[in-house]
Amino acid sequence: MTQAFPPEIRIPRKILCRKDALLQLPSEAASIGSRGVIVHGASLEKSGIKERTASAMKKSGVECLWICRPSGEPDLNGIASVIREGKAFRANWIAGIGGGSALDLAKAAAGLFNARESPAYYQEGGRLEEKGIPFIAVPTTAGSGSEATLNSVIINPVKKMKLSIRHPAFLASLVILDPVLLKSLPREVIVHSGMDAFVQAYESYISKNASLFTETLALRAIEMIASRLPGAARTKNEDALHEMLFASFLTGIAFSHSRLGVIHGIAHPLGVLYDIPHGLVCSACLIPSIKLNRSVVGEKYGRISRAVGGDFLEKVAALQKELGIVSPFKGKPLIEKEKIIEETLKSGSTAANPGTITREDADFLLREIF
Ligand SMILES: [Fe+2]
Repeated sequence: MTQAFPPEIRIPRKILCRKDALLQLPSEAASIGSRGVIVHGASLEKSGIKERTASAMKKSGVECLWICRPSGEPDLNGIASVIREGKAFRANWIAGIGGGSALDLAKAAAGLFNARESPAYYQEGGRLEEKGIPFIAVPTTAGSGSEATLNSVIINPVKKMKLSIRHPAFLASLVILDPVLLKSLPREVIVHSGMDAFVQAYESYISKNASLFTETLALRAIEMIASRLPGAARTKNEDALHEMLFASFLTGIAFSHSRLGVIHGIAHPLGVLYDIPHGLVCSACLIPSIKLNRSVVGEKYGRISRAVGGDFLEKVAALQKELGIVSPFKGKPLIEKEKIIEETLKSGSTAANPGTITREDADFLLREIF
């Protein structure tokens, strides 16, 4: 029988989930420390959120160093640079306000703030002994679930690989889920990040390490995302965005305790080699992976199908069509096939796939994806 719970449950200490929850950031941050670094993306300035938050922070007596992260996904050099600036500023905490990349960067910088070795050492499995500083997560997309997890996905620019750095101390001290922050997102960001959440919920649900705890969260998230994502993308309705944000958070809790599957195993090398948004890569790998895993997931296929109101594979195809998602790989040449297969086979995500993935399976996926 499936285990009821994972060996340990680790969730962020405090979660504020409501409209305008961001207004509580200054007083909450002040209670953690009077000096903090805020890592964010360029869109925060354009939306006016940065200006409003900066002035509220000042009124609460909190000194902030705002760091606008470079575009693209975070790499090891980016972590070292945030730590360097944060130390010079004498930061007590680090917040990330943004999508998964901003959160992963802020989270790793906070967790490794006092680490003796360089970030690369911990990405290669080095043991972290030193305590970092508190991390505050404020997601502005509904997708990565990074606000709920204890790992950061970071690019190693030398090895051209995307790998996680994980540690229980990476968990956020505070999570703010405010749907108002999602209202200014471009439609395609809502779609891509929403598909990342959908794929993560699916992979967590069927994961080899799933427990009743993670399955319950993941299945509910699958249902919510399938029904809410099209409306959230089309109308940016606040209730739909709120539900997407909540579903994405639930998904983060689920996969943080179950790991993911072969989609994330293959999506990481594909994302790095082709420089395509992560959620779009995951979406392109979803149907091939459903075909591959269908025979090994048993009755779970029927349960997911019931959650989405019809045959899962057909519903996914219809959802992607409704969202206007076109595969970025179809018609493109397949480059570095051996490297992609090697990385897929040794990925920690692939290891959690319900069926063991062989070289032939990875080859099948690539034939389906391209
Ligand atoms: Fe993902």
